[in-house]
Amino acid sequence: MTSPPAFSARVRAGFAAGAAAYDHQAALQRAIAWRMARHCRDLPLPPGPTADLGAGTGLLGRALSLQRPAGWRAALEGPIPDQIPEGRAPELLQLDLCPELLARNPLATATAARVWDLEQGLPAELSGAAFLGSSFALQWLSRPAVQLEHWCVQLGPGGWLALAVPAAASFPQWHQAAKLSGVPFTGLALPEAAALEAVARRQLLVRQLQRLRFSRRGDGHTVLHQLRAIGAGTSPHPPLSTPQLRRLLQHWPRGERITWDVLLLIGQKPT
Ligand SMILES: C[S@@+](CC[C@H](N)C(=O)[O-])C[C@H]1O[C@@H](n2cnc3c(N)ncnc32)[C@H](O)[C@@H]1O
Repeated sequence: MTSPPAFSARVRAGFAAGAAAYDHQAALQRAIAWRMARHCRDLPLPPGPTADLGAGTGLLGRALSLQRPAGWRAALEGPIPDQIPEGRAPELLQLDLCPELLARNPLATATAARVWDLEQGLPAELSGAAFLGSSFALQWLSRPAVQLEHWCVQLGPGGWLALAVPAAASFPQWHQAAKLSGVPFTGLALPEAAALEAVARRQLLVRQLQRLRFSRRGDGHTVLHQLRAIGAGTSPHPPLSTPQLRRLLQHWPRGERITWDVLLLIGQKPT
């Protein structure tokens, strides 16, 4: 892998710092991984490589293996080849930018893990993929719709995409506090769900498309702390000064739950 661009390096450092706490703190990601896996449990996979893009500690892969107890590859159409062609991933490849998270991923065995920056697109070995899953990772890429299109193009005929991603309508409470306090919104710019949906409809036969609303109790301080605790506090914006942060927190809507707007999408490449 060539050296990652500056923002990827910062994202990696953020997740590396939160790696030890990730599994314990990432309750929302765990719930979403479980829900995605439920939708994927009966997918008839064609032959071809499979991967979790931005796999982290493997929450999606672990949920998939629990919900497809006969084995991830059990639903392959046709006989399972004796030999996997060279360079093809036999398991659900655990691909991620952050080796510190992969080190805590029980599915990231020597043959099923890849440290890779998705800003570069997908590795060649995933060409003609049978399944590409990704949960809570696409929003970290600088051009999510462009990368999503690339992922769809890389699927083989009959291959499946399963995606969960927090969308731009998340965190209205934070946006409101920023507006009222006159300080910039310094969170990650989340992708517009409509733009991602348009890509999927162009490339895939969409089987599931849901907008899920999740909410969690906590004032501004708690919310920002929780994002940092799992290493997800990195932002392309310069950090707020202490007085700006104080003003932001003073204007955070009192007693309101913070809300996520999550796009869940499952689609199949036409055969
Ligand atoms: C919020 S975590 C989600 C991890 C996992 N999918 C889950 O649901 O728990 C975001 C993941 O995306 C990965 N990520 C962020 N930017 C990336 C990039 N440019 N290339 C590959 N992975 C990236 C992070 O390292 C991290 O593991």
